[in-house]
Amino acid sequence: MFSDLPTHPADKILALMQIFREDPRTDKIDLGVGVYKDATGHTPIMRAIKAAEKQLWEVEDTKTYVALAGAPEFNDAMVALVLGDAVARDKVASIATPGGTGAVRLGFDLARMANPDVTVWVSNPTWGNHVSILNYLQIKNRPYRYFEPATGTVDFDGMIADLNGAAPGDVVLLHGCCHNPTGANLTADQWQAVIDTLLAKGLIPMIDIAYQGFGDGLEEDAAAVRLVASSVPETIIAASCSKNFGVYRERTGILMAVAQDGGLKTLNQGNLNFLNRQTYSFPPDHGARLVSMVLTDPALRADWEAELEQVRTGMLDLRQQLAAELQRLTNSDRFDFIGRHRGMFSMLGITPAQVDTLRNDHGIYVIGDSRMNVAGLNAQTVPILAAAVAKVTTGD
Ligand code: LMR
Repeated sequence: MFSDLPTHPADKILALMQIFREDPRTDKIDLGVGVYKDATGHTPIMRAIKAAEKQLWEVEDTKTYVALAGAPEFNDAMVALVLGDAVARDKVASIATPGGTGAVRLGFDLARMANPDVTVWVSNPTWGNHVSILNYLQIKNRPYRYFEPATGTVDFDGMIADLNGAAPGDVVLLHGCCHNPTGANLTADQWQAVIDTLLAKGLIPMIDIAYQGFGDGLEEDAAAVRLVASSVPETIIAASCSKNFGVYRERTGILMAVAQDGGLKTLNQGNLNFLNRQTYSFPPDHGARLVSMVLTDPALRADWEAELEQVRTGMLDLRQQLAAELQRLTNSDRFDFIGRHRGMFSMLGITPAQVDTLRNDHGIYVIGDSRMNVAGLNAQTVPILAAAVAKVTTGD
């Protein structure tokens, strides 16, 4: 039997993680996988999470099952964090999931359960695992134009033209903020135009929000999700706690089904619970409990928000420094978009061969499509990266 198993192409992000680990060079720089690193290159546990973990260790007296949908206090706190007051709670069904990826996977399952013939439209480019999961589930998927590599900007006309070609009932996967991999995001006016297209064509948005608080701020980064979810009849939302709470390995996320027709909540909740039960039964609790403790304790929450804001503004500073250094070294505005992008990632817009040269000659690791993790940089590595990029692109 096992000899009949297929082989799978390596995930580009995870494969690069491995190559980086095996690289013996001590001055190598990892700008691959999307993980925040402080100025020393370490990925710290956030202070509030550590404090909550200590409290939990003291008070937790059982490891018995919690609930199929996850702890209600986690679901409530996360729905509030993402949706604020934009949508009444009797319209939102939700389940805790293992990470944002668990939410994405079950969100696709939910869409297919409702519409076995569904096509999911994904931005070109998108996070590679979106397409990989859709293909694995044998869900039809099609790209919509999103990015102009030459200018580092959103190809908005192309996006709307492609979405106008979608069929009623199709699902459109959107990045709530901090687009992965491009770093290029829609303006408020563009979000409104997307909503108009969704409504005119009868399309269902599915929003992946994995970086709330990493772009323009916690509230600002949720504005688009809130606008969409309050404007259209039905929205699927997959949210991750991996990055903004720094609980990567705990696998903490949430899947929401929002229906303006409140009569659908019970049906939606039943289907979400069913998906959890069929996939792994009860969702993991530890990370979710830490997150809900942080969100519901005023002191912990204030400390978390302060640390997250420090991370966010630190990334913005790194963006400005890198854009300025590249402007100086290349004597051009070619890389100015890095300063305008938001979130963990930007695509440098260099060729795969130049990406290879960055790795081979300079020990700098970015993904093959030239996505770099800005949160992997620091004040010391910015000038090194800028010099290397300027060198490999000389003559372009
Ligand atoms: C990334 O895009 O680097 C992260 O979301 C980590 C992952 O699982 O790919």
